[in-house]
Amino acid sequence: MNPTVQELVAALTLEEKAGLCSGADFWHTKAVERLGIPAIKVSDGPHGLRTQREGSTDPNDSIEAVCFPAGCAAAASFDPALTRRMGAALGREARANGVQILLGPAVNIKRSPLCGRNFEYYSEDPYLAGELAAGFINGVQSEGVGTSIKHFAANDQETRRLSVNSRVDERTLQEIYLPAFETAVKKARPWTVMCSYNRLNGAYASENKPLLTDILRGAWGFDGFVMSDWGAVNDRVKGIAAGLELEMPGSQGVNDRRLIDAVRSGALDEAVLDRAVTRILNIVLLAADLAQRPAAFDRAAHHRLAAELAAQSGVLLRNLGALPLHRGQKVVYIGAYADQPRYQGGGSSHVNTTAVSALDAALLHDRMVQYVEGFPADRDQRDETEFLRAVTAAEAADVAVIFAGLPDSFESEGGDRRHMRLPDCQNNLIARVAAVQKNTVVVLHTGAPVECPWADDVSSVLCMYLAGEGVGEAEDALLWGDADPCGRLPETWPLRLEDTPCYLDFPGDGVTADYREGVYVGYRWYDARRMPVRWPFGHGLSYTGYVYRNAVLSADTLAEQGLVTVQVTVKNSGAMQGAEVVQLYVADATGAPVAGGRVPQVLRGFQKIALQPGEEKVVTFTLTPRDLSHYDAALHDWYTAPGRYEIRIGHSSRDIRVTLPLHYAGTRLPPLQVDETTPLGILLADPRTAPVVQHALRAETAAMTNGGGDGLMPPEAMAQMFDALTLRNMINFGGPQAEEKLTKLLETLQDAVQ
Ligand code: BGC
Repeated sequence: MNPTVQELVAALTLEEKAGLCSGADFWHTKAVERLGIPAIKVSDGPHGLRTQREGSTDPNDSIEAVCFPAGCAAAASFDPALTRRMGAALGREARANGVQILLGPAVNIKRSPLCGRNFEYYSEDPYLAGELAAGFINGVQSEGVGTSIKHFAANDQETRRLSVNSRVDERTLQEIYLPAFETAVKKARPWTVMCSYNRLNGAYASENKPLLTDILRGAWGFDGFVMSDWGAVNDRVKGIAAGLELEMPGSQGVNDRRLIDAVRSGALDEAVLDRAVTRILNIVLLAADLAQRPAAFDRAAHHRLAAELAAQSGVLLRNLGALPLHRGQKVVYIGAYADQPRYQGGGSSHVNTTAVSALDAALLHDRMVQYVEGFPADRDQRDETEFLRAVTAAEAADVAVIFAGLPDSFESEGGDRRHMRLPDCQNNLIARVAAVQKNTVVVLHTGAPVECPWADDVSSVLCMYLAGEGVGEAEDALLWGDADPCGRLPETWPLRLEDTPCYLDFPGDGVTADYREGVYVGYRWYDARRMPVRWPFGHGLSYTGYVYRNAVLSADTLAEQGLVTVQVTVKNSGAMQGAEVVQLYVADATGAPVAGGRVPQVLRGFQKIALQPGEEKVVTFTLTPRDLSHYDAALHDWYTAPGRYEIRIGHSSRDIRVTLPLHYAGTRLPPLQVDETTPLGILLADPRTAPVVQHALRAETAAMTNGGGDGLMPPEAMAQMFDALTLRNMINFGGPQAEEKLTKLLETLQDAVQ
């Protein structure tokens, strides 16, 4: 019989235990041969296997592997079933290559479009990111390979990523930056979580006990182990006590020694080290056991899957009719990305592979297309001869398709973008082509939104994001109408950088990143300010059309512990097979005050459904009080105010097709602190205190509004003035024995809110 983890921990020396808490090298944990404890291998990453070639000494010398769509593109599929299939394929590749833990998914929230690593991340919306991450993790782990969801947490910029202090208030953290991790932990139980480099509210993520222990384990029930991002450990002893089990990639024994010394000196309880080792060994033994299963994968099938996922992720942003293309049309492809597509980003997620280009695919499908380079793929450089060739060819064609994008040097792990523009040479050429060709189509290869000053002048825009090695086949299918575009934007595309929520605070002053925009991230911001955007969250056109009807709620009222279902029938009213993403948003119409501000609407459900022409399907969502709630920092909990909500169902955040009213019948009221400085407006708005105040102050009202009642002020202003008064003002305007009355009233009120 194999020894249990408990027996192993008891048999390990202090040195061995400390050693097990850091990596042996860049990609391996340590083995303890005398006890039969194996090493396991971890490798990147989120959209393709980047694992060091056997026998190589260079950690970046990776085997060839399949590159699936990067997070930005995969998220545009709006389909957790797809991220699950992608995860399962990655799991098979990992196992076949001796990797036991895949370092992904990466679910940081897209706070600013400038974050250099947004291409790896899913969304500006935590609900969408969480559901996609859960799909991905379930897929990988179904193949007996673990995951490491990253980077936990509030690591939303690359600038000074190893030291920056992300200053985020409690509500914002709970509502925006944590839920993607929470959903994934609860729905998919990742084997590991990777803590981020940055500090969060003053404490490094790698030694942040509220984050790694209280929230992750305490509130969410995480039962795997936490590993550090590569080099994220600051104070190892503090880290292990806070809940960081494994340091990666190790620190040449320095931090192991610090752990040993701390135990010897009594600064660290050995039980804390034992607990960390136990958590690591639970996973190591499981991983090693599952690694025994036979493993193989079909490279060609995985490539086809990568192309299929890319096609499911392409977002048709605009179409005045130039798409789809038709055989017999004279088509010119312009831009180097037609030949050398940008399909992945730089850094730790970079996969060693080659992609099929749109030109390769056109050749394969016998499409008659002319090609003019027009501009290069790797830099912002204008060549007048190429420009003229492109414009002349565009003028002579029926349709001009421009393959635009961001060069690698514009967007990568390690740095943030400084602006949100495409290279000037591309913007110039698009404008010039559009001036001579009304059927101009722009295909975008970017990991994040770019400003599109020419958007109103071109006929069509297709966003591929960074679509992986199947990008060319997907483009071919979408451009020529062999597949219907069914991707939707997982983030808002703003008109200009200056419109973005954290424009004034990103990336901070080099020391601190203040998340001053609070919960107003992405569409929450643009909707609250009713700002025009280039393309809204959830947007995506198709070659067919969808009609929504018969939307119903199972009940008009939701009880405190209850649930309601929402049903809507969606029909494909066009002539082509397609897939609609039915989106459900909740709007709080209660009018109850919300500390930190009320968000106009939030995504609480989405479903992607495939529909043949004429076919209709009923889509069902389930809602619970948590779906209506916001996080209340005073309660340190989610809170749903009683009252009226709107359930909005539609095609995008700004294309709502049906709105249904829902009443929440909860009785819980938020805590209310009452002292002599509490404004009367608050006391009169709260059912616990309103009757007391109304009764007690009836006589004083006129005096306390300082003569306003005599017609000196309009009644509206008087009401506001009364609202602003505090109990303390009784001693100014409250007549005789005001102090005694105030003391008594305070006592009664405090009893009422107990
Ligand atoms: C990245 C991680 C990655 C790790 C290992 C770090 O620089 O932030 O996402 O998994 O390197 O390559």
